[in-house]
Amino acid sequence: AAITLKNKRALTKMRTAGQLLAKIFEEVPQILREGMSTLELDAYVDRRMREVGLTPACKGYGGYRHATCVSVNDGVIHGVPSASLILKKGDCVKLDAVGSFEGYCADMARTYVLGNENLLALEMRDAAQRSLDEAIKKIRPGVKLGDVCATVQNIVESAGFNVVRAYAGHGIGKNIHEEPEVPNFGKAGTGIVLLPGMTLAIEPMVTQGACDVRVEADKWTVKTRDGGLAVHVEDTVVVTADGVEVLTRLS
Ligand code: MF3
Ligand code: CO
Repeated sequence: AAITLKNKRALTKMRTAGQLLAKIFEEVPQILREGMSTLELDAYVDRRMREVGLTPACKGYGGYRHATCVSVNDGVIHGVPSASLILKKGDCVKLDAVGSFEGYCADMARTYVLGNENLLALEMRDAAQRSLDEAIKKIRPGVKLGDVCATVQNIVESAGFNVVRAYAGHGIGKNIHEEPEVPNFGKAGTGIVLLPGMTLAIEPMVTQGACDVRVEADKWTVKTRDGGLAVHVEDTVVVTADGVEVLTRLS
């Protein structure tokens, strides 16, 4: 396989997918509450996706049965929504969802902190969000992918945290995961050259302690090995003629 460059028609669909998904994520703080299960959060996003005209693309992907991944505290990514996982004050909740519109996907994740009083979680979220923002600012035609990856790593590590290495961001389009792989670490000046029409899901995964992770018995949920806190944020972007457009932020 190779990197697919998206034409105007494909980008219009991905932009619609991204804007609709961003709108739903914006609603989440209003419905997220202590005592709610992660399955209830999934059900809300699932229902809203259908209401706005998005197909929950995770459902059926590799046998996955839910619209979203909800990873809590030491959960990093791919948390399986559960009726028995009840959210409590201070929990660090990572919500990740892929919506598709007329066959084209947008992938997005945000970290929410219940009660906004878990200072470590807020600090880690700030570092992850800054690393994503700065990595996105680097993007334009001619820049190398390694410049983007190194930016994520430098900002996260400068803040005193670590990046997960076993999972990465990715190209995206008709499929959730396309080439190229977009690691959260790398060397500036290396890797492929970015071209207009490339669409990437950039997703810093940040750990408080060591970057090592393991997959739980449910075969999906990825947690930190040392039990340390993790955060995750993700946006889908397109390389434009002269820069970058973030598809999963409201324009
Ligand atoms: N945003 C997730 C990722 O990039 C989407 C996974 S879909 C699932 O890995 F089926 F694996 F949940
Ligand atoms: Co992704």
